[in-house]
Amino acid sequence: MIDRDKQKALLAAALNVRSQAYAPYSKFTVGAAVLSKDGSIVSGINMENSSYGLSVCAERNTLAAAVAQGKRDFEAMAVVSKGGVAPCGACRQVIHDICGDIEIILADEKGAIRKITSIQALLPDAFGDADLKKG
Ligand code: THU
Repeated sequence: MIDRDKQKALLAAALNVRSQAYAPYSKFTVGAAVLSKDGSIVSGINMENSSYGLSVCAERNTLAAAVAQGKRDFEAMAVVSKGGVAPCGACRQVIHDICGDIEIILADEKGAIRKITSIQALLPDAFGDADLKKG
């Protein structure tokens, strides 16, 4: 588990960025933030599209932004939404691929923690790059 100071900063970043979410269709706004091992935090939002299938979740947008900034070693991700939902299946796979087994903090619209979990728990027996080398 990350320490309380890091947890507070990560949650604040995800909570603050959520207001920037572009979700005119579902109206379900999500803010996410990822903590790198160098202590830096990158945040992002879900961005929907009039061609609905092109919408991208906050978790994947956040990771793309972090990787674009040169971040590679991640420790934890916070996700803030109404009710504190867990990442969708696609995001679980992407988080697993890019971050490995990081801590995932789920918080509601007030920033109150609903659950602290991990990718290992959310996506057991995950497919990953090691599987590509098998057979
Ligand atoms: N969404 C996220 O951004 N993250 C989640 O963890 C769940 C779902 C977005 C996708 C879409 O823009 C909206 O929430 C409703 O599904």
